[in-house]
Amino acid sequence: MGAAATATTSSSCSMAATAIVVFIAFVAAATATAASPVPAIYVFGDSLADVGNNNHLPTLLRADFPHNGIDYPGSKATGRFSNGKNSVDFLAENLGLATSPPYLALTSSRNPNYVNGVNFASGGAGVSNATNKGQCISFDKQLDYFSSVSASLVQSLGQAQASAHLAKSLFAVTIGSNDIIHYAKSNPGSGDPSPQQFADALVQTLTGQLQRLYGLGARKLVFLGTGPVGCCPSLRELSAAKACSAVANDASVRYNAGAASLLAGMAASHADMHYALFDSSSALLQYIDQPAAHGFAEAKAACCGLGDMNAKIGCTPLSFYCANRTDHVFWDFYHPTETTARMLTATAFDGSAPLIFPVNIRQLSAI
Ligand SMILES: *[C@@H]1O[C@H](CO)[C@@H](O)[C@H](O)[C@H]1NC(C)=O
Ligand SMILES: *[C@@H]1O[C@H](CO)[C@@H](O)[C@H](O)[C@H]1NC(C)=O
Repeated sequence: MGAAATATTSSSCSMAATAIVVFIAFVAAATATAASPVPAIYVFGDSLADVGNNNHLPTLLRADFPHNGIDYPGSKATGRFSNGKNSVDFLAENLGLATSPPYLALTSSRNPNYVNGVNFASGGAGVSNATNKGQCISFDKQLDYFSSVSASLVQSLGQAQASAHLAKSLFAVTIGSNDIIHYAKSNPGSGDPSPQQFADALVQTLTGQLQRLYGLGARKLVFLGTGPVGCCPSLRELSAAKACSAVANDASVRYNAGAASLLAGMAASHADMHYALFDSSSALLQYIDQPAAHGFAEAKAACCGLGDMNAKIGCTPLSFYCANRTDHVFWDFYHPTETTARMLTATAFDGSAPLIFPVNIRQLSAI
């Protein structure tokens, strides 16, 4: 399209050039429609899905500097907490769509286009407002933002078309890891909420949030459950044996189970709601427990960081980084490498139960 537009301005025969541009635009639009079963992806969540929102915040929770992005096209540090692309990039790629742009980048433009998808995810965000308060866009705030996006779509498309557009679109949500990290780091003992009580409280808040999302027009929900949070290098590093935090992993499994019954209940009471739930915990544990079988050489230490397990500090320009990023499960002390994200997304997209259920993302998209 960029090349075609240039041709128009440089051509002396502007009528013919315009006709060609119109024709190319028509073919491109027809191809896009044929290629993707969904018109757009709206993304909510934390740093696993952030594609640059936090670059626009006065926060310490950011990744818009090297060595982040070292394997991204142009070696660009985009704000993704990864050496390259993250899961929502691969989700979009699998659907033949461009990655949905960060909401805070769109709002700084004069005429924001919300029809092709928007990403509200923000590094540090949690289900709870209190998680990393003031350092990120909380999930509640992301929903506030989506509420105005939805209103803006109604204004530009009309109610019927806006509703139809949103009903066909995918809504990807990955949230909860930061709440679990905070819980595990608080060293819960007797008198504190048990992992089950903690997970129940989290799922109760999540219930209101997902119901609000449905109320705002979401009909196809992709819920990426929390991973084995206790095995991220940052939590491993805290134990003398460098073992996974059992409390964090337990809380994650219970939270995912709660989310599974929440989603099943919502789908049972709303005939027009469909979802795919990815058990990130079990999927990622397979790589961690049997690295070689999945092509990994290092499943414990981070690739980029400093100190014990490269997990004492995050990935900054002063950090060490490993030479081979495709054989590491973890990029930094909390986040997976691009390779891990690509593999997990492939399973969520085309895999089967019990890892992705009741349908996979390809099937959800086609509904
Ligand atoms: C969280 O903050 C939002 C504002 O973004 C507010 O609407 C909501 O009531 C808060 N939730 C809780 C549980 O405090
Ligand atoms: C990096 O690791 C992968 C996976 O173990 C391996 O296939 C590849 O050959 C390695 N690359 C280099 C340059 O060592």
